[in-house]
Amino acid sequence: MMLKKYFRKPRGTGTSLNLYMFLPHRIIHALKVLATNPAYFKARLSTISYQLKHPDHPWLTTAAIAYMTETLDSTKRAFEWGSGRSTIWLAKRVGHLVSVEDNREWYHKIRPRLAGHSVDYFLIGPENPQEQYPGRILDYPDGHFDLILVDGSHRAACIRNAVSKIVIGGSIIVDNADQGVNTAPLKNFQKIPTDNGVWHTDIFVREA
Ligand SMILES: C[S@@+](CC[C@H](N)C(=O)[O-])C[C@H]1O[C@@H](n2cnc3c(N)ncnc32)[C@H](O)[C@@H]1O
Repeated sequence: MMLKKYFRKPRGTGTSLNLYMFLPHRIIHALKVLATNPAYFKARLSTISYQLKHPDHPWLTTAAIAYMTETLDSTKRAFEWGSGRSTIWLAKRVGHLVSVEDNREWYHKIRPRLAGHSVDYFLIGPENPQEQYPGRILDYPDGHFDLILVDGSHRAACIRNAVSKIVIGGSIIVDNADQGVNTAPLKNFQKIPTDNGVWHTDIFVREA
């Protein structure tokens, strides 16, 4: 009975290893993937291995993490939609972080881990008017943020609102934009696509 929780279907894109993976139907699924798409299977295994080795890293491609490592420091301001490992990781690296979450349970899980850091962490749950979640950034002046991470809900609306809030030279990082997210408002930014065979993370740098 106690073991049941370890076999529950994991929630969230970043969950790396869980006994759920070893249930017979998941093993059959994995074998089918291996037979039909060995490159994806190999990439998936390497993502799992990376996550196990780096339990504190955001659920983004290693190239995007390397880019953030290089460009961020304690003088920088960051904003993110969609909290998780990235929130704790960013909080340790920037001078100030604003993070917006819409899942109550997840919010209360992450919140205690931000103690001692300069973070404004907002829960704007599904009960709030939909525009409040992407609209949270509109309270800040134009060009205020050095980094904006779009990794939560309502991605197209978040991108639209982010454009004027990023400083020249700063970047808007959009995770899984390849899954039908409208990035047209970023057409004048320099686009740096990154991919690990499983996840796709685009970095858009504001040049002017
Ligand atoms: C892709 S996750 C955000 C990941 C984060 N930016 C990072 O890089 O670590 C997007 C959303 O999924 C939801 N989520 C992810 N894992 C969850 C979990 N285990 N339980 C509840 N919600 C989860 C949260 O609402 C979160 O805002």
